Amino acid sequence: MATGSSTAAQRLAETIASAREMVDAARKDGAMVGLVPTMGFFHEGHLSLMRAARSECDFVAVTIFVNPRQFGEGEDLERYPRDPERDLELAAAAGVDLVFMPGGEEMYPPGFETAVTPGATASGLCGASRPGHFSGVLTVVAKLLNIFTPGRAYFGWKDAQQAAVVARMIDDLNFPVTLRVLPTVREDDGLAMSSRNAYLGPEERRQAAVIYAALEAAREAVLAGESDVATVRQLIADRIGRMPLVEPEYIEIVDARTMQPAARAGEGTLAAVAARVGAARLIDNIHLGREEPK
Ligand code: PAJ
Repeated sequence: MATGSSTAAQRLAETIASAREMVDAARKDGAMVGLVPTMGFFHEGHLSLMRAARSECDFVAVTIFVNPRQFGEGEDLERYPRDPERDLELAAAAGVDLVFMPGGEEMYPPGFETAVTPGATASGLCGASRPGHFSGVLTVVAKLLNIFTPGRAYFGWKDAQQAAVVARMIDDLNFPVTLRVLPTVREDDGLAMSSRNAYLGPEERRQAAVIYAALEAAREAVLAGESDVATVRQLIADRIGRMPLVEPEYIEIVDARTMQPAARAGEGTLAAVAARVGAARLIDNIHLGREEPK
């Protein structure tokens, strides 16, 4: 499809200039613009963000860009799953107005050298195991916020640390946007939906469900009165240990806003897990309290 071509209602932009033109035209009438940044290969988690944006905004823009700057050496940039045609159909069905699908050079032309540096929110969890990852995420999110200047931007709790790091950047750098962070959409057995689940073989896929089962068991223990961090972490480790194909990378109890290690498990804290399952690195988290953290 060529830049600026249209399907029934949805338009596709492959350049920053054409995306800006379309969103600026929509905004002329005072439209509230919602932005959903993604790396594509859509699943229900992505679609839930698009539907929320559709219900809360006049104009919905979705971006599909597998951002090389957030992948480290030896990570899965080259084999990251892609299916742009299917994505465009799913986005159209979700009522998306504009899909922005830039090439690598459009986002990072020769000479590009600037990056956003996150702070302590990005130091633990995935920030510790994936050096440079959150700088790459913030740099591309800052670019997208500047290209679209949306009133609302939609992210998922599934990537809780990403949402926290983005929230800090929006506050710290005064981006005029309201961040909306929405609940994790799961498969029937609890596995958090992820484009990377496509890497799992059948037995790996079956065993991967233990990650959420362990997180739920931790939440139940905390709601029943357990607040010792070491005990809760051990409970999660023991439960995951029953599935030999699931190898935890970290199991942490952190403050839901700052992502710093929590002194006690409870309201306002998350249990967060990253685990290798075959070729996939999966992450998930659960709130260890009654109220969802804001
Ligand atoms: P991606 O992994 O494609 O995810 C896009 C958005 O969908 C993120 O906000 C993510 O948290 C959300 N999401 C993923 N799985 C979800 C699920 N099961 N339930 C609810 N929401 C879910 O995250 C990225 O892309 C990139 O880092 C990006 C922000 C686009 C920057 O490149």
